[in-house]
Amino acid sequence: MKIVTIIGARPQFIKAAVVSRAIRQQGKLTEILVHTGQHYDENMSDVFFSELGIPAPVHHLGVGSGGHAAQTGRMLLALDELLPSLAPQLVLIYGDTNSTLAGALAAAKLNIPVAHVEAGLRSFNRRMPEEVNRVLADHVSDLLFAPTDGAVENLRREGIAGPHVRQVGDVMYDATLVFGSEARNRPILADLGVREKEYVLATVHRAENTDDPARLTAIFTALAKVAHNVPVIVPLHPRTRQALARHSIHHAPRDASPHTEREEYYQGVRFVDPLGYLDMMALQCGARLIVTDSGGVQKEAYFHRVPCLTLRGETEWTELVDLGFNRLADPTTSADVEAAISVALESRPDWSVGANLYGNGTAAETIAAELAQQGERGA
Ligand code: UD1
Ligand code: UDP
Repeated sequence: MKIVTIIGARPQFIKAAVVSRAIRQQGKLTEILVHTGQHYDENMSDVFFSELGIPAPVHHLGVGSGGHAAQTGRMLLALDELLPSLAPQLVLIYGDTNSTLAGALAAAKLNIPVAHVEAGLRSFNRRMPEEVNRVLADHVSDLLFAPTDGAVENLRREGIAGPHVRQVGDVMYDATLVFGSEARNRPILADLGVREKEYVLATVHRAENTDDPARLTAIFTALAKVAHNVPVIVPLHPRTRQALARHSIHHAPRDASPHTEREEYYQGVRFVDPLGYLDMMALQCGARLIVTDSGGVQKEAYFHRVPCLTLRGETEWTELVDLGFNRLADPTTSADVEAAISVALESRPDWSVGANLYGNGTAAETIAAELAQQGERGA
């Protein structure tokens, strides 16, 4: 069976790395990778292909950045032209980005079956662009790979149930296992001058935080206060770098060069450029606390047994909050965020509860096997 995989944003490269590897190992499927071009900086895209052994995309749509309509629309136009010429039996999509939605819609309108990896996640907050993307993608998908029982239940409540919904575990857990030993050898802690369990790692990029100056100020003011006592490292997403400048909170030094060649701070908070997956994993493993609004990073904190504070009012990964591994702090004031970080810094979760929340590291293999079976059934 011929599959076209559509990816375009950082977390999708990481998820696709392990599934694509499983597809190659399995040998019954032909995969054509299409990169939408949603993320394009070297450290937001190429680094993942080279580090994680993802084959170079066969087609690159080069859509770049833009508003939701412009970006998604450009992807739709390009895919509408490309997909018929590739004539796949199935289109594979990941997660909840604009690339996910465009892939789902383009394929569905061309009557090509769609398989969705990370189906069924819900924040129940329709103001998030990701929530709109994932709901729509799920409702046009023919094969839904859910990471958890909760995700299966969310789908059932929306009337999506049956043998085409499979709980397979989380491919991000697979990625942690596959690349873990390589990540542990990275010298990034020494490069940044921090020691095991003596720093906070923070990532911020969610639109609801970056595009609201009050929330962005609250987050970075709180991180600056925390940095008086504990080193704080922030690999800065380009959206956040631009928002910090736009809201006159922080401007990049004029001679901006990669973080390894200079040190950049915002009131004591260490900024570094976006990291490759292996360096990011090494920094996650060594952190005393992870503070984030990322979906993937919340789970990785749990994979590495590091307490997490999520800078949002809700999360899709509720089991982590229920079991005390993650806490939520809606970043409305800096005092609230600072207080939440202080509490989280002292938290000692009982990691022995809730084993195998995200499967046993074979999600990618299971997905590849299901896809092959689908091919045999003549998808
Ligand atoms: C997107 C996804 C989000 C995901 C995130 C992963 C949507 C709606 N959002 O958000 O769900 O969590 O990716 O990181 O799809 N930019 C660069 N260089 C790049 C990429 C982006 O400078 O290589 C800048 C551009 O100014 C762009 C902005 O970042 O406008 C935002 O990029 P975009 O892909 O639109 O959304 P993300 O915030 O990255
Ligand atoms: N990540 C990375 N480098 C960074 C920040 C994040 O490799 O500088 C990885 C992170 O470890 C996780 C994934 O990117 O695997 C999460 O992506 P992101 O936070 O951009 O998106 P989300 O998961 O929120 O959609």
